[in-house]
Amino acid sequence: MGEKQNILITGAASGIGRASALRMAKSHHVIVADRDGDGAGTVTSEIVAAGGTATAIAVDVSDGASVRAMKAQIESNIGPVLSAFFAAGIFIRGVTGEIPEADWDRMMDIHVKGTFLCCQAVIPDMIAANKGAIVNMSSDFAVMAVPGAAAYMAAKSAIYSLTKSIALEFAPQNIRANALGPGPIDTPILKSGRTEAEYAKAREAFAENLPIGRLGQPEEVAAVLDFLLSDRSAYMTGQIIHPNGGQLMW
Ligand SMILES: NC(=O)c1ccc[n+]([C@@H]2O[C@H](COP(=O)([O-])OP(=O)(O)OC[C@H]3O[C@@H](n4cnc5c(N)ncnc54)[C@H](O)[C@@H]3O)[C@@H](O)[C@H]2O)c1
Repeated sequence: MGEKQNILITGAASGIGRASALRMAKSHHVIVADRDGDGAGTVTSEIVAAGGTATAIAVDVSDGASVRAMKAQIESNIGPVLSAFFAAGIFIRGVTGEIPEADWDRMMDIHVKGTFLCCQAVIPDMIAANKGAIVNMSSDFAVMAVPGAAAYMAAKSAIYSLTKSIALEFAPQNIRANALGPGPIDTPILKSGRTEAEYAKAREAFAENLPIGRLGQPEEVAAVLDFLLSDRSAYMTGQIIHPNGGQLMW
């Protein structure tokens, strides 16, 4: 990915998506997509202030009509998307016996269906160009178990499986698909469903338990994303890559 490209990033208003948008905008045009349209606008302004170019788009990835409208807007105003990072996500805590059906559906809709719809939206451009790189946001929790995260774990495993399917199906068209599986990264999502005191305790526990001894920073995940979208990873597809401070080793 030497030349300047259009890179679509969802969940780009905050956290890992935002850090990735800021990093990739140093050499590419970034489409900053998020349900939080104002936040997407703020990140776009930051990119422009730093001398880059970007377009903000408000999208709800769990809604097919919204994803198709985003793609149509990109097609008419920007051009083909041959690189994409689908990072939109939420965290709802809950043990299996107590997860309300609506919470389960929301987790599956945003993570699994949302990632699927976004991949489906960009693949035709990639097929036409006979080239493409997709990175989907999974998690360490796709492949390791933690308490109170059944819906999240199931959703992140599904994203990993979807990524492998896409990698296999579209390898002949020179489209690569990989998943990111971060460990605990210092972003607003870690606060979800926690009081300030619980959040402070969780941060301490993460740091204590991780071999590297600290939470990760969103920029450290963005650096791996940059690698996975670039030709430096040209021989990698269908993989899950873990910037995780050593939380999971295999
Ligand atoms: N922070 C971590 O420790 C960690 C670890 C592993 C994986 N992840 C994953 O990384 C991704 C990014 O998380 P983050 O830590 O940057 O959190 P974050 O809360 O800072 O960012 C998530 C972004 O996704 C957006 N979003 C949520 N639902 C959306 C929807 N329906 N449509 C469009 N945008 C939507 C939010 O508005 C927000 O801007 C998530 O998928 C998360 O599960 C995070």
